[in-house]
Amino acid sequence: MSLDRVLVLNGPNLNRLGTRQPEIYGTATLDDLRASLQHHAGDVEIDLRQSNDEAELIGWLHEAVDARVPVILNPAAFTHYSYALRDAATLVTEAGVPLIEVHLSNPHAREEFRHTSVISAVATGVIAGFGADSYALALQQILRSA
Ligand code: DQA
Repeated sequence: MSLDRVLVLNGPNLNRLGTRQPEIYGTATLDDLRASLQHHAGDVEIDLRQSNDEAELIGWLHEAVDARVPVILNPAAFTHYSYALRDAATLVTEAGVPLIEVHLSNPHAREEFRHTSVISAVATGVIAGFGADSYALALQQILRSA
């Protein structure tokens, strides 16, 4: 797959990164994350987006299928219950386009409702618990396998 862009999609409440529960999610903002990923990606464009709206995230996954753009997806709370997002993620991986699920925190070490991901079974892989480095590790894997 020729790689000129990676979609980095972020679900609900991740627009509050930097001030949202910094003891769990750290103090880096989404803009900080975009800059650091772009630094690692070199000529590959980091197309980082965030939405609190399930429909918008699903539209972006459809775009990833049509344009064959690899995805790093932090589904945030949708991880735990959105079958619609899961179905859209299935379209991506079934098209042979990598989709890596990432989490800043380790959901398995937190409340019980966070232990279930409806996305993981259809993702190419999952990286969780390393803060912003979860995204950097996912990017590294996408760049390596391109
Ligand atoms: C999260 C974990 C989810 O449980 C939570 O709802 C989030 C962020 C993470 O990155 O650790 O919003 O996906």
